[in-house]
Amino acid sequence: MTIREIQEEILRLKKEKNICILAHSYVAKEIQEIADFTGDSYALSVKAKDTDADTVIMCGVRFMAETVKILSPEKTVYLANGVAGCPMAEQMDVDSISAVKQMYPDYAVVAYINTTASLKTICDVCVTSSQAVDIVSKMPEKNILFIPDCNLGDYVKNQLPEKNFMLLSGGCPTHAKIDEREVLKAKAAHPNALFLVHPECKPEVVKHADYVGSTSGIMNFAKKSDAKEFIIGTEISITELLQYDCPDKKFYPLTKDIICSNMKATTLVDVYNTVKGTGGEEIVLDSETITRARKCIDKMIELGE
Ligand code: 13P
Ligand code: SF4
Repeated sequence: MTIREIQEEILRLKKEKNICILAHSYVAKEIQEIADFTGDSYALSVKAKDTDADTVIMCGVRFMAETVKILSPEKTVYLANGVAGCPMAEQMDVDSISAVKQMYPDYAVVAYINTTASLKTICDVCVTSSQAVDIVSKMPEKNILFIPDCNLGDYVKNQLPEKNFMLLSGGCPTHAKIDEREVLKAKAAHPNALFLVHPECKPEVVKHADYVGSTSGIMNFAKKSDAKEFIIGTEISITELLQYDCPDKKFYPLTKDIICSNMKATTLVDVYNTVKGTGGEEIVLDSETITRARKCIDKMIELGE
């Protein structure tokens, strides 16, 4: 079968079976083309809450599929490829964070959405990179334990000097491996380009940015900007998507190896098999986990509106 034929079969089957397909902007373009919604972590969480499909297929990583199940427990939710996890989400667990909470009981726990469902059960609120600053600024608590990403945590901390932050050493291996020398090299090669960066990058990278924001934030900034050249400091798919969306502008990846292998694990055939009912992994969470984890996701949606 050709890519086009597989896409057409997926579109036919998902209509017949009332399936909604969600795809993060980092997954392959041929998957994004057949998705009902594409976007960053925040946009996908909101769409997950609103869809009235019976079944949702997440083309992204495990914590995203878990978020859909938590928000819509009555739906059947699949992760299109069960091996697609987020290494950052696996870095901290309930036991380690419970121990920190015991030592610092007067700190509110803010969890990046890139955490497991079970860890969310002991956190006060979730955030995504697109609204982390806004949400933490609206919290009444002054003392904030921000987990797991210390780079995003550092960025939020710098925007909110009125709060006390405690950060732990977690982070995204894909973004955190970029170092300052690569930024200086890219800027020297493209002196007229604006530098747009994701806050999962290290502070010494972020400090050179003309704009810091989530995946969608970076895309919207580049589309609206009058500038003609941009260095993109996030997953390589975003450079490619922007080239399609704005053929009159030039986009340079900060480095060619900012690739999240987990986001790239899902193939169009995985999606096809999941839609047919012969593939994917169904997300199963117990009702207590769903109820307790939902509180901090609902709080994120409430404060983020
Ligand atoms: P956003 O989609 O919120 O920009 O986060 C990027 C990311 O790394 C997703 O896992
Ligand atoms: Fe996780 Fe980083 Fe990949 Fe996002 S880009 S899924 S944070 S490893």
